[in-house]
Amino acid sequence: MAIISSKKQPPEPNGEPKQRRESAKAASTNNILQAEAAIDEQDRQEESIRPQRFADYIGQKDLKDVLDIAIKAAKSRGEVLDHLLLYGPPGLGKTTMAMILASEMGVNYKITSAPALERPRDIVGLLVNMKPGDILFVDEIHRLSRMTEEILYPAMEDYRLDITIGKGSSARIRSLPLSKFTLVGATTRVGALTSPLRDRFGLVQKLRFYEVDELSKIVLRSAELLKTPVTEDGAAEIARRSRGTPRIANRLLKRVRDYAQVKLSGEITESVASEALQLFQVDPCGLDWTDRQMLSVIIEQFNGGPVGLETMAAATGEDTQTIEEVYEPYLMQIGYLTRTPRGRMATKAAYKHLGFTPPSEQLSLL
Ligand code: ADE
Repeated sequence: MAIISSKKQPPEPNGEPKQRRESAKAASTNNILQAEAAIDEQDRQEESIRPQRFADYIGQKDLKDVLDIAIKAAKSRGEVLDHLLLYGPPGLGKTTMAMILASEMGVNYKITSAPALERPRDIVGLLVNMKPGDILFVDEIHRLSRMTEEILYPAMEDYRLDITIGKGSSARIRSLPLSKFTLVGATTRVGALTSPLRDRFGLVQKLRFYEVDELSKIVLRSAELLKTPVTEDGAAEIARRSRGTPRIANRLLKRVRDYAQVKLSGEITESVASEALQLFQVDPCGLDWTDRQMLSVIIEQFNGGPVGLETMAAATGEDTQTIEEVYEPYLMQIGYLTRTPRGRMATKAAYKHLGFTPPSEQLSLL
């Protein structure tokens, strides 16, 4: 189970025989070590620029205000924070927000994701090890298995673990008390959560795309932490091409930093950022090759739409979930794509951006 913890993990209670556990561990150790070495440096850099407190966190003002009140109220009553559901497109800072909540509350956190909680014992192991006030962050919470979800209901509501002992007619339920904890769930698809699960979150909050000036500040802050010289215009150029998403802004910053270091003096100016991002096929609106392909398929093959999601997936080679969760939200946000009951349509702005004549103007040319 992939878990990231704010403190050293205690050994997990685990029903497997020791010998089998250890041979499986030995077999996978080499792979794990190699993979870890490769991602370690990247992880370290990402961790080094991740904001640790609300004071360092740029943007999402409404969300910060709501959480600030919830934290102050919980602290003044000496209670744990209500369960919190964060939703929105990927890369907007849901995990970061959970880590900040833990540090503002002065508690420990554990981070996991729903696909890692396949077996009931995975979630049980985490829950029984929570200390009072601890935060359990579950990413992609819409993907929980039914059994795991059912274990979570009494755990969230009454801080109680119901364990079934035995099978069939002799099965008995035993209840174990749990420490009062906070579950922070994150999802890109809030509509895919079952209502019993969604209803157990006291706070349900959306993360929105960031404005260019917020992303510029994020780039300036990250560049300073990475000791990379960047001008304000350079930061703004990266921000404009970051699809409203800090994760993308930081990723582009690193690519532009490499380019500036190898090709030029090292300083990131507006023209350096623009040259580098052109090389990486990120256009002035932040659209990458796949975004443009998505729009041109609608325009060129389907006369601007409407096109069904499955058809889009077949025509572009992307899966439907990636199209819905990664590509469409930003294309809709900037007004290049609309969703209608009959399918997706490219807008006039999309036609113009890609250099096509919009249908309404085609008629007047005749
Ligand atoms: N890095 C990534 N997201 C950030 C944010 N919202 N504020 C500051 N730095 C960030």
